[in-house]
Amino acid sequence: MTIKAFVIGHPIAHSRSPLIHGTWLAEHGIDGTYDAIDAVPEALPGFFERLRSGAFAGGNVTIPHKEAVFALCDSVDDLARKIGAVNTLVVRNGKVHGTNTDYLGFLGNLDANAPGWSDSLNAALVLGAGGAARAILVALQSRNIPVILLNRTRATADRLAQEFGSGGFTVGTLDDINQLAPQAGLVVNTTSLGMHGTRFEQFDINVLRPGTLVTDIVYSPLETPLLADARARGLPVVDGLGMLLHQAVPGFAAWFGVEPRVTPALRARIEATLDP
Ligand code: ATR
Repeated sequence: MTIKAFVIGHPIAHSRSPLIHGTWLAEHGIDGTYDAIDAVPEALPGFFERLRSGAFAGGNVTIPHKEAVFALCDSVDDLARKIGAVNTLVVRNGKVHGTNTDYLGFLGNLDANAPGWSDSLNAALVLGAGGAARAILVALQSRNIPVILLNRTRATADRLAQEFGSGGFTVGTLDDINQLAPQAGLVVNTTSLGMHGTRFEQFDINVLRPGTLVTDIVYSPLETPLLADARARGLPVVDGLGMLLHQAVPGFAAWFGVEPRVTPALRARIEATLDP
């Protein structure tokens, strides 16, 4: 029987997930489908009824539904609660389970492209304290990495650090960046700065220690100004596209029963769809 999965959002045309999962379905010769479903918020309860009746093995949830589905799932795991968003649904025995695979995408991307990055890492500098930062903090905490959390708005960073808590956090604003960045062996940008030609104007990349790994969760453009500066300085960099690819792995494995691989060919295929 054909195994069916989906990504649901509104709008949905921009989603690369059908291409990622479609590539894997073809590669493994699986009798399965992965479709984009455009649904307004009011349509979600009815869609969940279809899920419970077994229409799909599961799927992905994207903007604007990642928070709304908490109330509709039969169960949600603790890490998705901590991240504050559900991006993956798995249907088992008529029940819908919600989870979040973004933090695994972040870890999978760095593990694949900067092997050993978390071994004896003294601290990670995280820029931004919004929704996207939460998955990164869960990822870093899972490897016991101390975090320097800097945000334009100090109070937002304070609240996030308090919530994620139990020490291990240094908090500041972007004005502290040049003073604190030399302490970090990893820099992660979780803000939208880097899109549309924007950049961290006050950040002097030269303050970073040699060998500091720099990564960005923005993948359009693929090389953000932050990554370009780091590369020009001779620092190792990992772009954000790998996070998108790696976050898709656990969902595919759960729905279709095969652990797919993130290959250079898959990456090239998705890269070809990005704006230059
Ligand atoms: P997301 O879910 O993508 O993280 P968000 O929750 O709105 O979106 O968070 C956006 C993050 O980018 C915040 O950390 C925000 O800083 P503030 O808390 O001060 O708003 C940061 N951000 C957005 N635009 C920025 C800019 N121009 N300069 C610096 N930080 C910016």
